Amino acid sequence: MAHEALSRDTLAVVTGRPGRAPGTPVSPDIEFSSTYVSWGPYGYGESMYARGDNATWKLFEEAVGTLEGAPDGAVAFPSGMAAGTAILELIPDGGRLVMADTCYNTMLALASERAASGRLQLTTVDASDTAAVVAALPGADWLLLESPTNPLLQVADLRALCAAARQAGVRVGVDNTFATPMLQNPLALGADVVMHSATKYLSGHSDVLLGVVIAADAELAGRVRQYRIVQGSIPGPMETWLALRGLRTLPVRLERAQASAGVLAERLAVHPAVSRVRYPGLPDDPGHAVARAQMRGFGAMLAIEIAGGEAAAQAVVEAVRLWVPATSLGGVESLIERRRRIPSEPASVPQNLLRLSVGLEDVEDLWADLRQALDAV
Ligand SMILES: Cc1ncc(COP(=O)(O)O)c(C=O)c1O
Repeated sequence: MAHEALSRDTLAVVTGRPGRAPGTPVSPDIEFSSTYVSWGPYGYGESMYARGDNATWKLFEEAVGTLEGAPDGAVAFPSGMAAGTAILELIPDGGRLVMADTCYNTMLALASERAASGRLQLTTVDASDTAAVVAALPGADWLLLESPTNPLLQVADLRALCAAARQAGVRVGVDNTFATPMLQNPLALGADVVMHSATKYLSGHSDVLLGVVIAADAELAGRVRQYRIVQGSIPGPMETWLALRGLRTLPVRLERAQASAGVLAERLAVHPAVSRVRYPGLPDDPGHAVARAQMRGFGAMLAIEIAGGEAAAQAVVEAVRLWVPATSLGGVESLIERRRRIPSEPASVPQNLLRLSVGLEDVEDLWADLRQALDAV
């Protein structure tokens, strides 16, 4: 059946398969080989040496690329940060990058380091303020966005910003880690490249580090692939296999986690220990209208601010018994973290903010655990 006729939920199951010929394994083999039988002129792009290509990467890339709307455009990396670095490498030396002032802190730290050493010029803006981003575009080379953002759950108007960037001759990259391709497709909204920390929802079981860049345009995808070959920033076959295995259940995992996140957001919003809930699914959230227009759901990440301040927020983290106090997100288990414990988290993230990654446990068990911890402060 032609892939175009299939829903995203089906594509997550059927793409990146080895084939349907009799005798083909239904679950793909993991290809552990550093080199391949070959003779004749040496070249990249065919299986000759495993820094160039690997059959297990290819299946994962086909699946993620298909879900993001660019079946041939995905390039896997050993982590989300390696994928983000590959995007920064697309910026010409000395070029100007416009970036959200609050987004995944290590991406911000990496771009700031490059700015400090003169490799690029960096302008940071509030990406939820469309007019401010548009005003920063003239003379820029690239715009890097994340939506919803980590950890403030701010929403950028991707369609409007990609259109403005195109007019200004600025390329756009979007970190789609929080939304996943099930809920949002930045390429369809006008972005040039998308990235994921595949460590999170795509893999989904907190057992893999992996990243991926997806480019709509063959020239850009080729540059990203060439960068991976020469820098040697390659993923492990085992990791890509695990991520592909995880991807098969992404639609059902996300559906369950998202439904629970919606319930928890509503209950948290009326708990006296919580001064603010940040979740684009709440009708009074500043990002609600834009999220509604560009996403197919609001996701399973939320952030809460604790009325009692930093110490009370820390006490909540220490009082939960089911939620796991840990960094990262997007796994089957629910995680809770006070983000400002991380020194590189920008000051725009409140000290009393807790980021919640809602997993697959029963929502009533999750709520009972959170409520007892909140009641105690
Ligand atoms: C939104 C976002 N982008 C990128 C990254 C970096 O990914 P990785 O940890 O896989 O390098 C993270 C990690 O938390 C993230 O949350």
